[in-house]
Amino acid sequence: MIVTTAELYKVAYGKFAIGAYNINNAEQTMGLFRGCIDSQAPFIIQISKGARKYTDKRMLEAIIRSASEIFPDAIFAVHLDHGDEATCYDCIDSGFYSSVMIDASHDPFEENVAITKRVVERAHAKGISVEAELGMLGGVEEDIAVDEGNACLTNPDEAVEFIKRTGCDALAAAIGTSHGAYKFKGQQSLHFDVIEQIEAKLKAAGMPPTPIVMHGSSSVPQDEVLRINAAGGQLDPSARGVNEEEYLPAAKLGVTKVNIDTDGRLVWTRVHREFFRDKPQEFDFRPPGKVFQDEYAKFIAHKNEKLGSAGKLAEVRAALGK
Ligand code: G3H
Ligand code: 13P
Ligand code: ZN
Repeated sequence: MIVTTAELYKVAYGKFAIGAYNINNAEQTMGLFRGCIDSQAPFIIQISKGARKYTDKRMLEAIIRSASEIFPDAIFAVHLDHGDEATCYDCIDSGFYSSVMIDASHDPFEENVAITKRVVERAHAKGISVEAELGMLGGVEEDIAVDEGNACLTNPDEAVEFIKRTGCDALAAAIGTSHGAYKFKGQQSLHFDVIEQIEAKLKAAGMPPTPIVMHGSSSVPQDEVLRINAAGGQLDPSARGVNEEEYLPAAKLGVTKVNIDTDGRLVWTRVHREFFRDKPQEFDFRPPGKVFQDEYAKFIAHKNEKLGSAGKLAEVRAALGK
């Protein structure tokens, strides 16, 4: 059942984080739903602009509607990931999305405020919530590359002003993560201080607590990278992501939505490379596709455990009166 993102935030805020998983095709969607049912977790499906173009935006809608029928107990929201203004309006008007992300973080502050405000007005008129971004993550977002030197953490004072002036429902804050497989070399920790300061300053300003969204949350497991390379891949083995043990402490401070895409791509790559390495005579795509669905479901259930959303489906259902 599709619910609003706001409803999920309400139940999770300060207690656990909701996994926001990008999807592009049917196999990934089946694995996602199965993993969330196996772990009894609510979740957010994210659709990027690239995903909408990969087959067709209507194809993804149809896949999600079908998955919802196949898994009638699933409780989830549908979200546009890293939208521009035009794509946000398209999603708001479609009647299918629970929330949109307007990403104007690459624009100057005042422009980011103006664009976000326009999207918030259009979205709220239809009961849709809006995630906006302030600060700059490193890595690649859609077609924009940000090198580590230009990435900057969100300024907590600016965050409070931004939320106040835009009325956005959730804030994608730069707290030290970046998109993609090549996040960090060696050990790295989240900037918990930035999350704490944003929430404390909101409180001091008499504003309601605002869920923080953590982009670039994949952990880039080293064993996954090594297995891919052992099956013919050439990924940099020193690549590191977010420590999964930091998801829950971050959630307790206000990180309510955790975006994960890259780790799922690594699962796909490992499964398919190993399958065709071990069965070089094979050319039917369904056998590896089946393995992928199973492995993706396991991966999702594991992430939900680390996020604290596993086992929370009954609580969410009761809170929503569904
Ligand atoms: O942050 C970006 C997400 O991982 C989506 O990636 O734009 O390649 O679909 P994509
Ligand atoms: P990762 O690249 O770390 O999976 O981040 C995904 C993301 O932030 C999608 O918006
Ligand atoms: Zn992102």
